Amino acid sequence: MSAVVPVRGAERIRRALLGSYPLVYVQSWEEGRVERAIAMLAQKFYERPVPFAVWTCVEGWTGLPEAPTETRDPVAALEAVLRANGPGFFLMKDLPALFDGRADVVRKLRDVYRQAKGKGKFVVLVSPRLILPEDLKKEVFLVDYDLPDEAEVRNAISVLGRRYLGEAGLSPADADRVVTVLRGLTLDELEHVFSKVFARTPRFDEATFDELLAEKEQSSRKEGVLEYVPPRFTLDDVGGLENLKDWLRKRQHLFTREAVEAGLPVPKGLLMMGMSGCGKSLSVKTIPALWNLPLFRLDMNLVFGTANPEATFHRALKTVEGLAPSILWIDEIEMAITGGREAGGGDPALGRIFSTFLTWMQEKEALVFVAATANRIHLLPAEFIRKGRFDQVFFLDLPNETERKAIFTVHLKKAKADLSKFDVVFLAKATKGFNGAEIEAVVQASAIDAFNEKRPLDEDAVSRVITNTVPLSRTMDEQIKAIKSWAHNRALSASRESAS
Ligand SMILES: Nc1ncnc2c1ncn2[C@@H]1O[C@H](COP(=O)(O)OP(=O)(O)O)[C@@H](O)[C@H]1O
Ligand SMILES: [Mg+2]
Repeated sequence: MSAVVPVRGAERIRRALLGSYPLVYVQSWEEGRVERAIAMLAQKFYERPVPFAVWTCVEGWTGLPEAPTETRDPVAALEAVLRANGPGFFLMKDLPALFDGRADVVRKLRDVYRQAKGKGKFVVLVSPRLILPEDLKKEVFLVDYDLPDEAEVRNAISVLGRRYLGEAGLSPADADRVVTVLRGLTLDELEHVFSKVFARTPRFDEATFDELLAEKEQSSRKEGVLEYVPPRFTLDDVGGLENLKDWLRKRQHLFTREAVEAGLPVPKGLLMMGMSGCGKSLSVKTIPALWNLPLFRLDMNLVFGTANPEATFHRALKTVEGLAPSILWIDEIEMAITGGREAGGGDPALGRIFSTFLTWMQEKEALVFVAATANRIHLLPAEFIRKGRFDQVFFLDLPNETERKAIFTVHLKKAKADLSKFDVVFLAKATKGFNGAEIEAVVQASAIDAFNEKRPLDEDAVSRVITNTVPLSRTMDEQIKAIKSWAHNRALSASRESAS
């Protein structure tokens, strides 16, 4: 059986060292693997081997030349590092777990940062969890060691394909699809997912592909605030919004190697704002299939639920960068800016998260596309919408008549209705003021009625439900006018013609 090995396991750490950050934080469950990688770097990073020492809170330093005998205390341990002569690699295993209540340890680490910089000394912290005090954030370089990059995933998938599907393995096109959906898993998880799906059914088809998706969803849930969103929707699932769809179609190939090598600008992000239930979230969900990139949804509610929202947010951004090229979806981004409160401001952490995000958007080099949506658009500060931040800002209005026709068609098809039995133009005229979600609800309710009455779903059933529905917009007339005038100068209409 061939093994799934990381082709460039230590590469990510090596890159951090090349940036000459003396403090490196490796987040990994596989302490042993990290230790071997650092030991190897101590042998090879410089022209001749340099000392490699390991510290634990139980044994203090092992392998540190001229170390004092008692180095179990973290401050004493770091002082020993500062006194050590010449370059070297110092791996510290339990340190992050000891930060709490030890301001002196944090202070000492900052001293190490300043004094070791440029001297070829590297202190590497390893921990499965990210515990990073505020005061250290600028000094520490974070490495996500467990997450393999695209080449590693590709390699693992080709090995696993041959293992479970026979010598031919996966076809190149199938392998591409699998790589896209499985990126973001560790190598262990990849093996696990493959054995679970293909040991039972040793062939690749739509059914096993769906099982892969389901397994991936299962395992990425533990990531915490990031949720992997599988590519289950296409542009055909969206009725209307033709301007937005054109924009997405035109950028379909910009994340490919050819486009990047040709020097084409890589899209940075898209902001969609407007009425709720008009397809903002739905549109985001179509991008992964169209662009062939993995999509990760950042749940701001979960971020604010953690002990240190800023650190969590920072870590989420880093994780998505590690998975680039990828799409980061921030749904209802006004939450990130105001914490969901109507009157923003007040909480300094919120302001910091927001400015962290703006800076990151500005400076990120990784190929991460940000898809942001906003419902309560009056909560968005002007600097957020300002030109240049996002490539485009779209306003999604209530669907016009043509769009309502298209939305009916989408949902009637999903309900397996016989379209020849419907006058969708009539249905569209009868649903002025309905949003997409309400049209979907109308179709679903009529399908249930028809099923209970043992009749096929027809126009009559749909008309009856329409008559009994009051769309939200009817009671929100004033608010809708306000939203429209606010968006008028700030955003491009997602629809091809203005609403009627
Ligand atoms: N333009 C549309 N075409 C087809 N379905 C739509 C459209 N807009 C909304 N829907 C339906 O309503 C549901 C909710 O829409 P969603 O995208 O979540 O709205 P928003 O994020 O703008 O509040 C979608 O999952 C979809 O089924
Ligand atoms: Mg939404």
